[in-house]
Amino acid sequence: MFRFTLVVVAILLANLTEWTNAVALDATCSATSDCTPTYSECTGATGAQTCKCATGYNKQGADCKADLGSTCTLTTDCDTTTHPNSECTGTSGSKTCTCKSGYTKQGTACKANLGTTCTLTTDCDTTTHPNSECTGTSGSKTCTCKSGYTKQGTACKANLGSACTTTTDCDTVTTTDAVCDLNAASKICAVGFDGNCSGDKSTKCPTSATCVSNKCACSTGYIATTTKLCSKSGAEGLVKAMSMLIMVTILIAGKMF
Ligand SMILES: *[C@@H]1O[C@H](CO)[C@@H](O)[C@H](O)[C@H]1NC(C)=O
Repeated sequence: MFRFTLVVVAILLANLTEWTNAVALDATCSATSDCTPTYSECTGATGAQTCKCATGYNKQGADCKADLGSTCTLTTDCDTTTHPNSECTGTSGSKTCTCKSGYTKQGTACKANLGTTCTLTTDCDTTTHPNSECTGTSGSKTCTCKSGYTKQGTACKANLGSACTTTTDCDTVTTTDAVCDLNAASKICAVGFDGNCSGDKSTKCPTSATCVSNKCACSTGYIATTTKLCSKSGAEGLVKAMSMLIMVTILIAGKMF
């Protein structure tokens, strides 16, 4: 019994020595095996080496936590301080810190998809879902389409009168004839040429068009383009071209004689 106790004490002492030799972050070391934190290594000039977090890992308290894309074993290995909503996923033995389901990696951050919980507007993935924002009552906010935009599939499409860049930005599900009025000073979605402008859509025709008998018609001097907008008619364009030609002819003639 006494012998057994001695052995146990010896083992405990050996472990204690190990503990004493364990090297924390920023403390002096001579080999990586000296460094206690997982994902830390002994680096620096000979004689002045210290335990530091390996590339792809950040010091968080006494530990080294993994960046997005870095190898991990446990979910607690991921640096959720720097990259909130990241977790350790993948098949056993080849796991990496990745964005949780409902989040998309944008740069070094995990941004919330439409319908995902958020806290700040900057939490939403406005790269994949432009015109989404973090809305709702404090404590239960989600990324939703901004006012003036309607969710169609995974996108926020512009309502009539809301800002757009191209016609694909407009909600053509709600308004079949919707187009982006590229002729407007500030581009907004409008009912396209020949489109239904009945009722509250009567003021929604594009630039140089008006609502006539519930249909958007081009104003006098304007004709419909293939993109359902109204541009200066061919006749006017021809007059312009002719006057240009006459001016040039006069100029040339003036130089010759
Ligand atoms: C035009 O739109 C209104 C709704 O804004 C709808 O009630 C009506 O049936 C539409 N007319 C045609 C001809 O599509």
